[in-house]
Amino acid sequence: MSHANTRSLELVFGDASERICIASAVEDKDQAFLSQREKTTFEALRFAAKRTSFLIGRLAAKRALAELLEEQDLRRIEIRSGIYGQPLVDHPRAGALAVSVTHSHGLALAIAFPSAVPMGIDLETASAMSEDAVRAVTGELQCSAAESAWLAGRSVDEATACALLWTAREALGKSLCVGVNSPLGMLALSEIRAAGLDAGDESGWRGCYLNFPRCQWVGEVEDGRVWSLALPLEARLAAGLSFRFN
Ligand SMILES: CC(C)(COP(=O)(O)OP(=O)(O)OC[C@H]1O[C@@H](n2cnc3c(N)ncnc32)[C@H](O)[C@@H]1OP(=O)(O)O)[C@@H](O)C(=O)NCCC(=O)NCCS
Repeated sequence: MSHANTRSLELVFGDASERICIASAVEDKDQAFLSQREKTTFEALRFAAKRTSFLIGRLAAKRALAELLEEQDLRRIEIRSGIYGQPLVDHPRAGALAVSVTHSHGLALAIAFPSAVPMGIDLETASAMSEDAVRAVTGELQCSAAESAWLAGRSVDEATACALLWTAREALGKSLCVGVNSPLGMLALSEIRAAGLDAGDESGWRGCYLNFPRCQWVGEVEDGRVWSLALPLEARLAAGLSFRFN
């Protein structure tokens, strides 16, 4: 059963179909959902921002996984970090389940999925980006020809456009488990198109990656937030992605 902060979706690939789940979490003092080992990690974190992002990221990840695992007790789902910082799932029934996590300005999103279909998620708060930040980030993106053309004729504000291109890159970097530790142009898009449900609806976007032809991108814009999902080109979501954060 889905809760207000989770959304379960069907993912179709080849002849197979599996459930994935997106979940959100906002700032909360509650730590009761952490496992003993996670509590120890949390206690060692010194900076308030890192402590908050750790808590909300873990909570969103556990909510998404709990839905697929049908687990009531979030303490039984443990999230560890792999050698590149990628999240790893421990649970007796986790099998080949994986999760991707992102946090920005007090909100975390996570997507739980079968590891056979690698995915990455990234969130930015466009409404909190200063003009200088937008200019600096756009300058770093090493845009492809398709991205430059889209930026020149863009129908969304500059911060939203910048966040869409940035989150598309980070989502791909996470799905590949390498993050964005490579020249940013490597992760550029070769195609960007509006994919909202109605004509003129520019809350939904999708596209393809220039150097990773087997991967695709889906982007969403909502209330000043921009989030992206990278997933295999062969995979198809049976319903739209739109998701109300809370
Ligand atoms: C991984 C990376 C894309 C995260 O981006 P970000 O905008 O800082 O943060 P987000 O909130 O979107 O994502 C953070 C989450 O990504 C996940 N993550 C981290 N490294 C990852 C990787 N290699 N692959 C997949 N997911 C990863 C983690 O779950 C992390 O949350 P957690 O630390 O609470 O577990 C980015 O930090 C990166 O690529 N770093 C590599 C470059 C680097 O090492 N720079 C030095 C940083 S000081």
